[in-house]
Amino acid sequence: MTVKDAVLKTFAERFGNAPTLLARAPGRVNLIGEHTDYNDGFVLPAAIDRAVYVAARPRADRTVHLISTDFSAETTFALDDLDDPDLPAWSRYPRGSLWWLENQGHTVPGFDAVIGGDIPIGAGLSSSAAVEVVMIELGLALAGASLSQVEKALGGVEVEHQFIGMPCGVMDQMASALGRAGHALLIDCRSLETQAVPVPQGASIVIMDTARRRGLVDSEYAARREQCETAAEKLGVEALRDVTLPQLEEAKAQLDDVLYRRARHIVSENLRVRVTVMALRGNALKTVGQALRESHVSLRDDYEVSCAELDAIVDIANTQPGCYGARMTGAGFGGCAVALVQNEAVEQFVAAVGPAYTSKTGLTPHLYVCQAAEGSGVERL
Ligand code: GLA
Repeated sequence: MTVKDAVLKTFAERFGNAPTLLARAPGRVNLIGEHTDYNDGFVLPAAIDRAVYVAARPRADRTVHLISTDFSAETTFALDDLDDPDLPAWSRYPRGSLWWLENQGHTVPGFDAVIGGDIPIGAGLSSSAAVEVVMIELGLALAGASLSQVEKALGGVEVEHQFIGMPCGVMDQMASALGRAGHALLIDCRSLETQAVPVPQGASIVIMDTARRRGLVDSEYAARREQCETAAEKLGVEALRDVTLPQLEEAKAQLDDVLYRRARHIVSENLRVRVTVMALRGNALKTVGQALRESHVSLRDDYEVSCAELDAIVDIANTQPGCYGARMTGAGFGGCAVALVQNEAVEQFVAAVGPAYTSKTGLTPHLYVCQAAEGSGVERL
């Protein structure tokens, strides 16, 4: 049974009637452009064929009865009391979205709902961004309001900043809301302009989950963000997006070694995103692969957000026949890596990487070929 069917079935079983709305928001994998989003830079994620669904039916009061299939849990809360600290932790993201909508002046009626998905949680594929976006889709439909996909994405970012306390960039929510089937999305994180870039016919995107759950992410992420802001300030620019590599070299003396390396990652990564987009458009897959490999080295050595497990799976992937290139994806410190692999070599690639990684780390990874999917939406049933 698909997750979507499981969510619909649970709704019918638990509430005894049919839902009237079904919203969906996908996870994302980032092909390249890591940690550049909060530097006003460029990113190239794709929405993936794994998503969060929520089925719902409005009620006549201001109460929400929410059942989670992923957490095998349920909770009931009032729309006037969304930040009650005694409510279960798993319901924070859905409550955050409703809180944002209410703050924006949208009056959401109470509702019964079932939420569930197949994006692995805490693996760096943006399951939390998908929950934020799916709840914004649902809340708007319930309130009879509409917003652009960019506005929905920015709403999800506000939930992270103001309700959750995570100073993330815009990439994850933008990918979830604006993804295009068969395409990656080039996002200019300053202007928020997007361009769909076709995933080449001859290659597959393989996600490699290291099975090492992310640690340290919150504190280290905030620390990286601060370092980038300090570096930009010292260089006299609004954001590191405004610096070129020659300018950075020239101003090297103004930064200590750590700040210099952080800045070098951001500046060189922005370049690699542009190279990757041009190479994808020209079907120059070796060039794409080279950029992915260089991105990993830069994240590992200059930005220092990789870990032994990510390095191991990336090294193993990079030596397989038919692999153009691989790198860690997402915030880092565990979670997933991504590889671009020749279609004919995928089966052999998946068969070889798993056992080699297990023998090196003792962990069982999960590898799957993913399809670039369409962004979020809601349907009336
Ligand atoms: C997390 C954040 C994103 C982005 C990535 C790193 O996924 O939510 O905004 O900064 O890390 O590229």
